[in-house]
Amino acid sequence: LAAGGHTTGVSPVIRKKLMGYVGFANLPNQVHRKSVRKGFQFTAMVVGESGLGKSTLINTLFNTTLYPPKEPFPPAAERPKTVAIESIGADIEENGVRLHLTVVDTPGFGDFVNNDDSWKPIVENIESRFDSYLEQENRVNRSKVVDNRVHACLYFIQPTGHSLKQIDIEFMRRLHTKVNLIPVIAKADTLTDEEIAEFKERILADIAHHNIHIFQAPTYENEDEETIAEAEEIASKIPFAVVGSDKIVETPDGRKVRGRVYPWGVVEVDNEDHCDFVKLRQMLVRTYMEELREYTNDVLYENWRTEKLLSMGVAQDSSVFKEINPAARMQEERILHEAKLAKMEAEMKMVFQQKVQEKEAKLKQSEEELYARHKEMKDALEKQRAELEDKKRKIESGRPLTPEKASTGRKKGFLRT
Ligand code: GTP
Repeated sequence: LAAGGHTTGVSPVIRKKLMGYVGFANLPNQVHRKSVRKGFQFTAMVVGESGLGKSTLINTLFNTTLYPPKEPFPPAAERPKTVAIESIGADIEENGVRLHLTVVDTPGFGDFVNNDDSWKPIVENIESRFDSYLEQENRVNRSKVVDNRVHACLYFIQPTGHSLKQIDIEFMRRLHTKVNLIPVIAKADTLTDEEIAEFKERILADIAHHNIHIFQAPTYENEDEETIAEAEEIASKIPFAVVGSDKIVETPDGRKVRGRVYPWGVVEVDNEDHCDFVKLRQMLVRTYMEELREYTNDVLYENWRTEKLLSMGVAQDSSVFKEINPAARMQEERILHEAKLAKMEAEMKMVFQQKVQEKEAKLKQSEEELYARHKEMKDALEKQRAELEDKKRKIESGRPLTPEKASTGRKKGFLRT
């Protein structure tokens, strides 16, 4: 019962002061403990032409050799003929928190003479992952739902310093409603700071011109200033100009860092003055991984699901509920089954009654026939008896009997004198 005695409608919110510690302030800790126990699933996709440093960046981001070193130029026979989709998974743990990380690679993207349809297998792969999630949601037992949906897509832009290429625009246009797009300028150490700034401006102009939605760090109402500033800082770096390296090198001042050594100095991956790697890591891992998962589930997947159900002719009303709710569907199937059984039973009863009536009619007919035959025989007998009576009377009234009759009558003592 809502405070204030209302039993129906929306309960009024009344702020009350607690008289002592109750304990629900511990809820976030409970959620935390549960999440840690369950572990997390995160799937990142990397898309970009061959050799842009995708594997190196993933290794750098998760500080592990998820991708072993590859041959720079595999023999032609080993190179994919179309865009392939390859995923690699790893269970990683940090301070007791387990993360099942899946990286989906798309070798072959942008590597052909004609790259017009390079985006197609990637869209298909993302949608088939949505499909598999929807199928799991519809199962009776949903306790073991595995989330294989792609939560973020790192799109590697070639560091040309010009503007986006047709293939980049086409890819982002086709994908931005299906996945959280995070564009990165690959191998940013090959451009000067000025070139990067201008390149970023042109990229952003192209993105805006084509109404492409790029994932933005979200800010909520009542958020503290520090969080808002952090989100703004991250947003200001998009598209992230990144440098990847899983090698530890030594700086001229003797520090050991992850970086790339050049004749003129060392580019440090984790130095915010050198590149945007730190901000990208913040966006993808440290601060907004959960938001990426949430946006994928609440917006991208939800929109896709609605569209899919509508295209299947399921209206967005209670029938959607039935479509996705196994209990409602089973209930409906049970009612239909019971109705079918009842119909069959009624039909059987009717046939039985018909058969009984036919049998009764036949019995009645044979009874009547028997009765008629019986009556016929009775009448015949009656007639015979009457004739005999008549004969007897005639004999008794004085007509002489034949000698044969007289002797018979005497013998039996029937003859009266
Ligand atoms: P594919 O697997 O063929 O698609 O390549 P990839 O995109 O995974 O590139 P990979 O990580 O294998 O790197 C290709 C080459 O670029 C390697 O020699 C890397 O050392 C080098 N590389 C990687 N990241 C960077 C970077 O940020 N800057 C520079 N200058 N080179 C890089």
